[in-house]
This record gives sequence, structure tokens and C-alpha cells, in this order.
Amino acid sequence: MSSTPQVQVPRDPGRLPMTLPLLAEKKRLGEKVVMVTAYDYPSARAADAAGVDVVLVGDSAATTILGHSSTTPVDTGDMLVLARAVRRGLTTPLLVGDLPFGSYEVSDEQAVTTALRFVKEAGCEAVKLEGGGPTSVARARAIVNAGIPVMGHVGLTPQTSTALGGWKAQGRTAAAAARIAQGALDLQAAGCFAIVFEAIPGAIAEAIMPRMEILVIGIGAGAATDGQVLVFHDLLGIRDGLGPRFVKRYANLQQEMDAGVAAYAEDVRRERYPGPEHGYSIDAAELEDFLAAMAELR
Ligand code: KIV
Repeated sequence: MSSTPQVQVPRDPGRLPMTLPLLAEKKRLGEKVVMVTAYDYPSARAADAAGVDVVLVGDSAATTILGHSSTTPVDTGDMLVLARAVRRGLTTPLLVGDLPFGSYEVSDEQAVTTALRFVKEAGCEAVKLEGGGPTSVARARAIVNAGIPVMGHVGLTPQTSTALGGWKAQGRTAAAAARIAQGALDLQAAGCFAIVFEAIPGAIAEAIMPRMEILVIGIGAGAATDGQVLVFHDLLGIRDGLGPRFVKRYANLQQEMDAGVAAYAEDVRRERYPGPEHGYSIDAAELEDFLAAMAELR
């Protein structure tokens, strides 16, 4: 048990809270936009301290922190718990909540109701949904019309990866790439403020970019997009295996965590922990009285 109170991260006074106009300005100026996922208070604090522009509470939480093998099982209740924790750890980044599978496809009303929950119950400033087909485009339009900014997501859309043939790069034929481009343009026309391009050839992303007036964030889509996003656990190595080829790993925290817990376990077993420095003292006279009282206890 820790007695340390959870405090809000002090805001860097020089950094402005990120807004949609500021993001659009970054695109106009050609300044790369940094986005990362976060799922709890510590990951949010790390993103905030790094001064990233956008934080996504991704439904990748299903695999990264909840241990599922895909993103489909996670629901709105799970996502809202995580999003609220992330909200508490952020000062300036724009917070985007990922609408989980099954929470927006059924009707425009369902989509707007779910999006409103992310805004009202978790303090998200925008939501993200997957897919560039007619259903996703209609839902994006409905949510935008309700006054909530929407980020689209095309290419590899993990929620529907079964239908896409698995977790693999998309848009590798002319026809498939054209469908992705059409989806991106339709989401843009529906009023999305930004869109994620995931796991598509860099040349395809590059060819679509001149048609995109909204912010494009890439993940495995090459260097031509306006910004990049990576999954927190992938970039910090909090996972088994290397992950997708587009991941650049900046740390090996899983190894460090494993080593830390193993060292603790070893210390306890060998009676090296706790030491005197980890304990609390008591006045000698109080201890003596206590021992006397103990002797009386039946
Ligand atoms: O859920 C997620 O983490 C995402 C990003 C990979 C964009 O959708």
C-alpha cells in the first residue's frame, strides 16, 4: 500500500492544450504530429511528460493490458474506465477515445450515444472509429453532426481483421488500395478531423496524401503522413515478441519488469527483504508496555 497521493501532472507552462485548430495548423506548417496510445494513469503521464500532441485510448487495450487475443471482446464499459484514468494523467494532449467493436455499427443513434459517453463520462475530446465503408462513414457523419470530433481509421482495421484476412498489411493490390483511398475520402467528406492509415504500403499513403485536407496519422504507412502513432506497449517493449514490423522499439520494459519482480521474489525467499530501512520504529518504552500487555492477552 502506498500513501503517496495521486497528483495531477503539473502542466508545462509553455505548452498549450492541443486543439483541433492547432492540429490543423501543424498540418499546414508541415510539423509532424505525435500520437501515442495510453490506457491508464502512468502511461498517460509518460505521454504527457513527452509533450505528445494526441493520446488515443485505443481498443488495443484488449490485447495490451486485458490479455485478449484480439480487440473485439473489449466493451464500452472497459474503455471508459481506462479513458477516465488516462484523462486524469493528461494536461495538454488531445484525448481521443476509441469506440470499441459493437458500440457504433448498429445505428447512428447507437454510435452517437456511445460517443457521447466517451465525452461526458471520460472527458474525451474526440472519438475514433474504424472502417471506410458506408456504415462507418454514416456513423462518423452522425457523430460529427452531434458535435463530437471524429477520427477515422482505414487500412488494417483490427476490429474487422477476420474479414480482412487476418492481421496483415492492406492495400497491396490496385483495387484494394483504391478502396482504402475511397474510404479515406468519404470519411473526410463526412467531416472527420483526422484519419489513421494503418499497415498500408508507403507508396499508397503517399499517393493519397495530396487529396487529404484533414490530418493523417500513420502507423505502418510510411513517412508521408502528417504524423505517426504507435501503441505504448509496442514502443516500450511491454509485450512478448517483437510485434508488427512497423514498430520501432525504444525500450525493453517487459524484460525490466520480469527482472524486477524476479529480484523481489528472490529477496523475499532469501530473507533479504524487508531490511530495517523498510520498517517503522516504535519508542522503546511503548514497546515494553506493549509486550507486557501482550503477556496479559488470553
Ligand atoms: O487501438 C489502437 O491502438 C489503434 C491505433 C493502433 C491507431 O487503433
